[in-house]
Amino acid sequence: MKHRDHTRLLASLSEEYEKRSPRSAALQAEALRHLVDGGSHALRLLQPFPPRITGAAGAYLTDEDGHRILDFWQGHYANILGHNPPALLDALREGFASGYGLQTGFTDRLQVQTAELLCRLTASERVRFTTSGALTTMYAVLLARAFTGRDRIMKVGGGWHGAQPWGLKGVDYHDENHSRFQHVETKGLPTAIAREVLVTRFNDPEMLEGLFRRHGNSVACFILEPFMGAGGFMPAERQYLALARELCTRYGAVLIFDEVISGFRFHTGAVSQLYGVQPDLATFAKAIGGGMPVAAVAGKAELLNLAGRGGGVKFSGGTYSAHPASMLAARTMMGYLEANARDIYPRLAALGERCRRAVEAAFAAEGLHAVCTGDGNEAVPGSSLGMVHFPYRDGTRFRSPEDNRNPDICDVVLGDTVVQLALLLEDVYVVHGLGSLSTAHTEADIERLAEACRRAARRIRASL
Ligand SMILES: Cc1ncc(COP(=O)(O)O)c(C=O)c1O
Repeated sequence: MKHRDHTRLLASLSEEYEKRSPRSAALQAEALRHLVDGGSHALRLLQPFPPRITGAAGAYLTDEDGHRILDFWQGHYANILGHNPPALLDALREGFASGYGLQTGFTDRLQVQTAELLCRLTASERVRFTTSGALTTMYAVLLARAFTGRDRIMKVGGGWHGAQPWGLKGVDYHDENHSRFQHVETKGLPTAIAREVLVTRFNDPEMLEGLFRRHGNSVACFILEPFMGAGGFMPAERQYLALARELCTRYGAVLIFDEVISGFRFHTGAVSQLYGVQPDLATFAKAIGGGMPVAAVAGKAELLNLAGRGGGVKFSGGTYSAHPASMLAARTMMGYLEANARDIYPRLAALGERCRRAVEAAFAAEGLHAVCTGDGNEAVPGSSLGMVHFPYRDGTRFRSPEDNRNPDICDVVLGDTVVQLALLLEDVYVVHGLGSLSTAHTEADIERLAEACRRAARRIRASL
């Protein structure tokens, strides 16, 4: 199938963007002298250059050129209360003022309390903290391989578990020979990764059963997000998760739920609890830190204890694991979310629903067929996530990344690249066409987004 070519539109959007952001443009030139591509995370380095941010509060950012930008990226979906939420800032300020916050290298009462809170809220027996989502999934896989004495890892195509060796296969869609999600994503990996990581399709029970039938006795773990994040914001179907649990138990494999995005996003705990499916290990990050680098592997004691004395797994956490300021942030955030859950989660769900429908309606009003994923299902009653797709046909169903990342089904460049730049010209920041809502967003913000989408859609229509 011939894909649409957006080169000319992107060139004209870039030209306009360069004109209205001269200070960010100048900083990009400086940045390139020392920083690869001008920064330290590929997703932040949109082309021709990113807006350089000077401050953030709630739903808004300010940049070097004085723009006030409505933000749906919200710290890679970490900021459930918006940027710099007062409850967290107050706790950190108080901590630092009283001499608590940078005394890393020790352990203390606060870590014990934070662990108690996380275990109680997520129904976990043990937890160990570290500093990033990628490290949590790496350690979880290490625990699973040690526990089972097996090598193979199973994951779903399109699933992003951070930049760690076992997560670096089957993330991006590859068009050639319809190979889709069977590639390793980086040079430099041990060659064994291509063999040891088996990739199955999200929400496809037959494929999962087939893979387990063929390889189940050599599979150490199946790792997946119960609510698919960067791959497309799609919830697992209830039967699919239940089947994953059953197959892991039957074949002696460890079930790992990566809840780096979904943890504390839908209620005060793991999304798996809403499904009534208990994994053996789960990983948490993002929302529990409210913007601070904190991450955790939680789950069954018999697995996590392998990280302990005599257990043989070098899950040492790292210099900044359970960093005091991060622990303070995590305890404050989880405590706040628990205390205010009745207000926070229904509000987030209502805003999310309104936002997804408003974006679809805005594009439709200008003659562009857009579909927002991110809706909940029978297990997840509401959701504050949204991703925009431009399917070529009406009625396209989105059940796995095979649907939304396939350029024969959706105009992927339009959803990812064009919309991002077109909306930035309207002072709205999105990733994958939208992002996440926080409690700091308002209905007026959604109306502003909708208007921005209508304006962006008009330019896009004119170029097609
Ligand atoms: C589901 C999931 N797991 C793991 C990670 C990696 O987390 P980090 O970027 O903190 O290493 C991410 C990051 O976006 C994620 O979305």
